[in-house]
Amino acid sequence: MQLGPWSQGRRAAMLYYRREVRQEGPGTPQQRHIDDFETAIASSLGGGGLAVFQTLRRLALKNSWRVYLVGGPVRDVLLDVAIKDLDFGVEGDAPVLAHQLAESLGGRVVTHARFMTATLIMPDLRVDLVTARREVYPRPGDLPRVFPGSVAEDLSRRDFSINALALPLWEIAPQVLDPEGGLADLDAGVVRVLHERSFRDDPTRLLRAARYEQRLGFELEGQTRRWLADAVAKGPRSKGLLGRVSGDRIRHELERIFEEKQPLPALRRAARLGVLAAIHPAWQEDMLTAGALSDAFRESFRDGATDHDSLMYLAGLVYHFSPAQGDTLIRRLNMPRAWSEVVRDTIHLRGIESRLAKEALPPSHTYSLLQSLSPAAVRAVAKITSSQRVSEAMNLFLDRLSGITPRLRGSDLISLGVAVGPMVSQILERLRDCRLDGQVDTGEDERRWVLEYLQAGKGSEDNPEKGD
Ligand code: CTP
Repeated sequence: MQLGPWSQGRRAAMLYYRREVRQEGPGTPQQRHIDDFETAIASSLGGGGLAVFQTLRRLALKNSWRVYLVGGPVRDVLLDVAIKDLDFGVEGDAPVLAHQLAESLGGRVVTHARFMTATLIMPDLRVDLVTARREVYPRPGDLPRVFPGSVAEDLSRRDFSINALALPLWEIAPQVLDPEGGLADLDAGVVRVLHERSFRDDPTRLLRAARYEQRLGFELEGQTRRWLADAVAKGPRSKGLLGRVSGDRIRHELERIFEEKQPLPALRRAARLGVLAAIHPAWQEDMLTAGALSDAFRESFRDGATDHDSLMYLAGLVYHFSPAQGDTLIRRLNMPRAWSEVVRDTIHLRGIESRLAKEALPPSHTYSLLQSLSPAAVRAVAKITSSQRVSEAMNLFLDRLSGITPRLRGSDLISLGVAVGPMVSQILERLRDCRLDGQVDTGEDERRWVLEYLQAGKGSEDNPEKGD
């Protein structure tokens, strides 16, 4: 294993300049002491994460535990961007270590025996501890069989070189371990798989490649790009390798994209590379220009708009689907209810756009067309639709109509003479419609409306409980 210097090259050198750490010149290999790394980590991590790092560092030094900071957090410190999650590897038993850490810091430990991993769950933080391991993939796309291994073996099983980095916390003056050339790739700004079988072993890496490339502003390395194209094109029953991966795993990686700060560049890239079409044939790049890749949808997120939730991107991806295609996708990705609702509601919304586009549509009609649908779907379609009237009706619903309720409550209706039973909610709904359409305003208006309604005999006629 090569004990690489903790950093080298342009990006790392920028980090040096910014932090005013002594340095010998850009591009020159640096020897860097852990104090510097701790400073860098302190500025990339919130309080809880830093306490975990420092506790583990102290315990590792004291007990000579062979614990490493691995993968994403090492990459992110080197790039001087905020660390999202802390991942640790240990040449030893990760669940045991997690319990010892929990003794010092509190928190709950969840272990995954099959993968020899543990997660320490604290009130506002999750920390993953992984037993350094070797992996064997029985068949492409299957979950790997896992055996304890060295940190070098652990790094060599990883997806991309920029994630195959580790910092040994048990050494007094640790340097980044870089057996796969990740530092040079960070410097060059490339996403590179470690070997030819990588995408075959784990086809979810096809989506991960697009995600990291776009998040970091990197490029796929040339050979990686060719292997990716092969993996997309070939595979079981020509569906590409993703055809063999479970729906849950694909969905998980899509979710990771939806949760990116800027999901659209990664989705666009995955579409252009044919990765999305390998999941569902209707996810061709040119078809997606109706929804997630439409100018309007992209434009609306350009400045990092905050009024979105991650499922809006799912809505954008299925806007052009037929109901049957939606059902296929729901089954393929084994979608939970929140997802399948977004898919069905988005497709339904596209179908009712002409009704929403009617001139002078009463607000109560807009409400009844939209009220039972997923807000993420409504929000997304409001951005995607080419009809300004539809967009306005949806935004009116989201911003105002959806929050309107009658001033009177059920108990008020009962004291006005409405019989206990289904009539109460029916009249409340009628009252809400009157409020939506501006026919009542004050509580007094509503009371008058209810009394007139009852006097007209409507309250009793429809009421099955009245009349004996
Ligand atoms: N990993 C992998 N292959 C996968 C998933 C994960 O090799 N299909 C490895 C990578 O080395 C990755 C690490 O496991 O760095 C942790 O996975 P994850 O949390 O998904 O990656 P992060 O790099 O931490 O991602 P992010 O920055 O999005 O949190």
